[in-house]
Amino acid sequence: MDLFSLKGKTAVVTGALGLIGRKHCEALAAAGANVIVADINAEATKAFAEQLGGNHLGLGVDVTSKDSLIDALNVALDKYDSVDVLVNNAAINDKFENPAMAKELSAFENYPLEAFQQSLNVNVTGVFLCSQVFGTHMALQRSGSIINIASTYGIVGPDQSIYRDSRGQQTFYKSAAYPVTKGAIINFTRFLAAYWGHTGVRVNTLSPGGVEAGQTEDFIGNYSAKTLLGRMAQASDYQGALIFLASEASAYMTGANLVVDGGWTAI
Ligand SMILES: NC(=O)c1ccc[n+]([C@@H]2O[C@H](COP(=O)([O-])OP(=O)(O)OC[C@H]3O[C@@H](n4cnc5c(N)ncnc54)[C@H](O)[C@@H]3O)[C@@H](O)[C@H]2O)c1
Repeated sequence: MDLFSLKGKTAVVTGALGLIGRKHCEALAAAGANVIVADINAEATKAFAEQLGGNHLGLGVDVTSKDSLIDALNVALDKYDSVDVLVNNAAINDKFENPAMAKELSAFENYPLEAFQQSLNVNVTGVFLCSQVFGTHMALQRSGSIINIASTYGIVGPDQSIYRDSRGQQTFYKSAAYPVTKGAIINFTRFLAAYWGHTGVRVNTLSPGGVEAGQTEDFIGNYSAKTLLGRMAQASDYQGALIFLASEASAYMTGANLVVDGGWTAI
């Protein structure tokens, strides 16, 4: 199983304090990597890095700020010799504070331009900047693995019927921002894989399906019915795929999209 080992490697995870980001960090740490827990709240990143045990580092990072990313790279290189894995995981997925307004605000006709632009900024520009800063270091060292986290909604459009309750009432619409940004990074992956292939830096997409996390029973039922495995994901369901993409186990894989969605996009 040495193929899957990340011993002596350093891995950056953006959005590391989120639902799935924490599981990515735990998996990378278990595979032997030094993990850089990167997220907005610096104190919380340090606390989580400590909780992981081992030689990990928590860094307050804003993926939309190139200066913040350059600072993070410098701190990382002071502590470790190299950065070998970048998991572009930070993203905005719409949450509406007031459920009573969710349907109205999320409808395409009303969807706020600022919300659309904020998603473009974090989900696309953030991936561009992180890849530019950490990936350039990898290209110079002539090795590395970049993993861009997309979604089933980067591959297919949202089925708005799953956001209806048992009385058939639409509770919410999945906005255009999410499929637009997730689709963009699947093709950004191909661009960068082609651009850096000759350097030995590999770039792949991991496209997860939806994780069960306290949604309504109606939603969980609607979602599960659309998957071939009949269930939503657990946040830990992506750990194996992540370690595969990060490690030598996927040495001949670049520009690809690894879809781990319980079969959602297969039919
Ligand atoms: N949760 C799901 O069901 C699901 C399904 C498919 C794909 N995904 C994708 O997986 C990834 C993780 O999803 P999640 O549900 O864990 O998300 P989450 O909302 O739980 O966490 C996102 C994290 O990103 C951080 N973040 C936001 N803006 C940032 C910025 N500018 N700089 C640095 N960090 C920032 C947040 O602080 C947060 O900790 C995302 O790319 C998401 O689109 C999630």
